[in-house]
Amino acid sequence: MLDVQSTEGTVKLEAPRQRKLGVGILGAGTVGGGLIRLIQEGLAHRAVAVEIKKVGVRSLVKPRSFTLPDHLLTSDLKPIVDDPEIDIIVEAMGGLEPARSLIERALRAGKHVVTANKHVVSEWGEQLHQLAAAKGCSFLYEASVAGSIPIIEILKEGVIPDRIHSVYAILNGTTNFILTRMTESGEDFHAALAKAQELGFSEPDPSFDITGKDAGQKLSILISILKNQHCHPAQIDIRGIDFLMPWDFQFAAERQWVIKPLSIYEEVDGFGFACVEPVFVPRQSVFASARNEYNALCLDCQHIGQQILIGKGAGELPTASALLSDLRKIAESPGRPQTLRLQTEPGTLTQFRSSIENPKSYRFYVSCCPRQPEKRRKIYEVFSIDSELIQERSPCARSGFRLAVVTKAIPHSELFRILDLVLSFDPDAEVSWVRILEAI
Ligand SMILES: NC(=O)c1ccc[n+]([C@@H]2O[C@H](COP(=O)([O-])OP(=O)(O)OC[C@H]3O[C@@H](n4cnc5c(N)ncnc54)[C@H](OP(=O)(O)O)[C@@H]3O)[C@@H](O)[C@H]2O)c1
Repeated sequence: MLDVQSTEGTVKLEAPRQRKLGVGILGAGTVGGGLIRLIQEGLAHRAVAVEIKKVGVRSLVKPRSFTLPDHLLTSDLKPIVDDPEIDIIVEAMGGLEPARSLIERALRAGKHVVTANKHVVSEWGEQLHQLAAAKGCSFLYEASVAGSIPIIEILKEGVIPDRIHSVYAILNGTTNFILTRMTESGEDFHAALAKAQELGFSEPDPSFDITGKDAGQKLSILISILKNQHCHPAQIDIRGIDFLMPWDFQFAAERQWVIKPLSIYEEVDGFGFACVEPVFVPRQSVFASARNEYNALCLDCQHIGQQILIGKGAGELPTASALLSDLRKIAESPGRPQTLRLQTEPGTLTQFRSSIENPKSYRFYVSCCPRQPEKRRKIYEVFSIDSELIQERSPCARSGFRLAVVTKAIPHSELFRILDLVLSFDPDAEVSWVRILEAI
């Protein structure tokens, strides 16, 4: 009740009751189910004024982590998106289709959309942003990158008042979990992957995690926001973690390095270089302390130096809490749509280039197992020119000797010139390399 003074004295006015916004949730597995629990059971520290109107799933008989009246659950998703009582669609199904078409349909119908789907955002973000802006709707996706760490909000809102010229990040909890187990327990790759699957960290298809594709999609989303222009995942060089062998971990440990699955964006001479790859970082690095399924980001800023964020990057409640924070933004000011207007003017865009063209120099660890032992001396000679350490390590089954090399600081182009030369002497040599990042 409000007391209002008028010429006839004080009158009581009923405050207009705010209508709760109707929410339709597409997908109620780990993340969608977590969101339903957060909304219903009051697990969040601040309530959000929304009402769950419908929940779309594939199976109506599957046991769920939440309880809902039967009539709210449906396997027919289009009517949810078309329902006039629903103001916000939360997409937590995953995969490209039908998720993308349903998001598009919702925006066309003038509904706000919140999604956790990095696949859709990284590949279709530009079109969906344009559609949302044209329709005056919000299109938000905090949950698509780094789970509980609000990195999208930080980049989008310019919370850090400085130019961010590089981003180093662990964006994939599964590969971080696997590399942590291989480092700390000496577990082999397959056993560590099986454990990650058992704990529910990995994507349904783990090859998305292992090959670096998942982290590449997340990095492309961050770059798109950072540079305010669309960066497609295909513009990012990705390398998986499955080439790493026990001797690589042993060598790293002896020299006080740890192997971490990093997503990297660096600007050099006005060009952008983006990649996902395992790297060696010093044991004292902040990334070394981000173990198991944790994510971490280091934003390298022009004037204020490095800003570090660490938190849980996956799992039911960390990811659902990111969806909830987007829902809250919409519920608190539904009339103020929030979406990015990505720039498209060719003259203002940053050009993204392949890592091999990055002129910056790094030290690299190289492991080389030749097929032809008689090429030993020649291969030694090739490496010796640009290297500060060449060790002959435990014998390799195929040739009797294996080299572990640490190069001097050289650009990628020089590394590949050396590796090409080695392979020209011995085309079947088994060669792998890992970049060493010392300053993070
Ligand atoms: N899990 C994480 O830690 C995490 C972290 C960050 C982002 N994400 C993202 O969040 C999204 C959801 O992941 P999740 O782990 O929650 O997946 P999930 O456990 O497999 O849940 C997917 C949900 O969507 C429903 N669904 C999928 N396809 C459907 C279709 N064609 N028709 C109707 N319902 C369909 C499933 O129905 P049923 O239950 O009936 O099978 C299930 O409820 C993905 O985009 C993922 O990348 C997940």
